[in-house]
Amino acid sequence: MSEINYSQPDPQAALQSEIQAHLFNADGQPRTVGVIGYPVEHSLSPALQNAAFAYYKLPHRYQKWAVAPEELKAFLEKVKREEFLGLNVTVPHKQAVLPALDETDEVVKLTGAANTLLADNGKLAGYNTDPAGFLEALKNEVNFDPRGKRTMVIGAGGAARGVVLALASQGASEIAVANRTYDKAVDLVAQFAPIFPNSHIYATPLDPASWPFNRNPRALVVNATSQGLLEPDKEFPVSAEALSGRDPDRHTIFFDLTYGDTPFLKMVRPLAAHVLDGLTMLVYQGAQGFEFWTGLAAPISVMLEAARTALAEREKGH
Ligand code: ATR
Repeated sequence: MSEINYSQPDPQAALQSEIQAHLFNADGQPRTVGVIGYPVEHSLSPALQNAAFAYYKLPHRYQKWAVAPEELKAFLEKVKREEFLGLNVTVPHKQAVLPALDETDEVVKLTGAANTLLADNGKLAGYNTDPAGFLEALKNEVNFDPRGKRTMVIGAGGAARGVVLALASQGASEIAVANRTYDKAVDLVAQFAPIFPNSHIYATPLDPASWPFNRNPRALVVNATSQGLLEPDKEFPVSAEALSGRDPDRHTIFFDLTYGDTPFLKMVRPLAAHVLDGLTMLVYQGAQGFEFWTGLAAPISVMLEAARTALAEREKGH
């Protein structure tokens, strides 16, 4: 990944009294914030969010709660009652939280999932920060704008849905959705193609023999499958050459939504203009959450470093 010197927000200048008031309860205690999942102990979100709170010298401790599916409803009622600052939501609750939300936006409706909740005045608003986080990561890390670009998304689950929405919303000219189970790619495309008529969004099997020839290489290929998570020691099933298209000049950016040095990234690196991994995505989607909750600019490089350190420690522990 390219090294970028971020200019970090000024922690003193940003902490105006109005923002401060929102961050604390009437009794002066910091409002509660954290992540729910099941399981949740391996979540890296506490590391990156606590680094951001510490950057602003705020006393909040971002927590993690293992909430079983049958406990979810009661937990969300508590979040409303006790006026939490907000929550991140991870597997398996991203869809299950929807009925408890008082407000959602178009991104939640189109992806069918919320990963960030905002509690206010006894109400819960839900957002999905994945698509915006994905786009911010591309813009800030590798200066990539999808407008007018040929792209491919591998996978057709929830993660792929967020990526297709992000790319289509920014006017990618072509989005090939390649999936091992072809019918799932067809279903995904059927949802998005009518909403974004200016992008050519089409389904294809995960088999280069069925990909149409085009003289131009793909500008971006995103691995939104769980292959690297499920089979970390196996090779990715499709070659880098086939994924990038005709690319003698290393024009293609490859983005794997799984953390770390995945089989996909190992394979594509020699052919890649840039590679990005899922930890970058985690940080940028988390940065959006931090900004929603606090109204403060997220200190991206501090959060990235904290996430990388936490991942390295987690991997040592295994
Ligand atoms: P998520 O919510 O993270 O997107 P998901 O809905 O379980 O997770 O989707 C996982 C995706 O990874 C699917 O597109 C799946 O392909 P299938 O639809 O064919 O199951 C894909 N996937 C998982 N393991 C894979 C592998 N070894 N090779 C290729 N694709 C794989």
